[in-house]
Amino acid sequence: MALVTTKEMFEKSMKEGFAIGAFNVNNMELIQAIVDAAAEQNSPVILQASSSAIKYAKINYLMKMVEAAVEEHPNIPIAMHLDHGPDFETCKMCVDAGFTSVMFDGSKYDFEENIRLTKEVVDYAHAHGVVVEAELGKLAGIEDDVNVAASDAIYTDPAQAEEFVRRTGVDSLAIAIGTSHGAYKFKGEAKLRFDILKEIKIRIPNTPIVLHGASTVIPELVEMCNKYGGNIPGAKGVPDEMLHEASVSGVSKINVDTDLRLAMTAGIRKVFVEDPSAFDPRKYLKPARELIQQTVAHKMKDVFGSANKA
Ligand code: G3H
Ligand code: 13P
Ligand code: ZN
Repeated sequence: MALVTTKEMFEKSMKEGFAIGAFNVNNMELIQAIVDAAAEQNSPVILQASSSAIKYAKINYLMKMVEAAVEEHPNIPIAMHLDHGPDFETCKMCVDAGFTSVMFDGSKYDFEENIRLTKEVVDYAHAHGVVVEAELGKLAGIEDDVNVAASDAIYTDPAQAEEFVRRTGVDSLAIAIGTSHGAYKFKGEAKLRFDILKEIKIRIPNTPIVLHGASTVIPELVEMCNKYGGNIPGAKGVPDEMLHEASVSGVSKINVDTDLRLAMTAGIRKVFVEDPSAFDPRKYLKPARELIQQTVAHKMKDVFGSANKA
């Protein structure tokens, strides 16, 4: 089996009411942990790399490792996606390298410019059998180099979403309903605008919806980091119950990066503190990889509902 696009997995997710996890990768241990969890749970899975992850790992290394993952797990649908493509050139580079899905993130542009730039990417990607995700509305917080002040957060307008999808021909749409990237998502209580999600689903029922900034910021992982010498005070994410509600309410793709970073860091920190004499990287990367796998498996099985949907 080869890498797949997200087309069929999203069709199934919309029909059966579950979401597919899209997990950010930039090294071998992350890729192995995520696809092993998917195989263990018999779940479809999306691997995704940001432009800075591609700069870090190099596109060739990433693609070869992802191809190896597909060979290891021929029965699991695996898609490879560009996360937050900043421009046409980056999207084109990933299409040409064999990614099966790309995101063009034009959320920092005005509506008309976002449509124009997204359409350029859609035309190129579709001509090469690749699907496209776009973003409308702004997430609060820090994404790549773009810093959106929390007060500037703009929820997605459902009427605009309908017009945007019609005019761009985009395959899926990332929306802003209150999530944000990173480990500090809410000052007080977590709150998502499910009313806006509902309105968007009424207007574009056949377009898969994507939720960015959707890490739980798992308290046990934050505690583990802090217990073993870390300093991540006051971190807060989207509770599992809300992500589950999103999964059964029309969200098809849920993006997770921060929880994987926390799992990897917690696993490594524990070994460093408990066994200061260890200096073989396998000694700390193996438990870190296991913790990432458990974290991903938990999301698939208990939160997103994608287990046994491969
Ligand atoms: O949405 C952003 C992702 O978490 C990727 O972050 O640009 O640091 O790789 P990154
Ligand atoms: P988190 O920072 O919540 O993991 O979000 C990741 C993301 O949206 C990647 O595009
Ligand atoms: Zn994102």
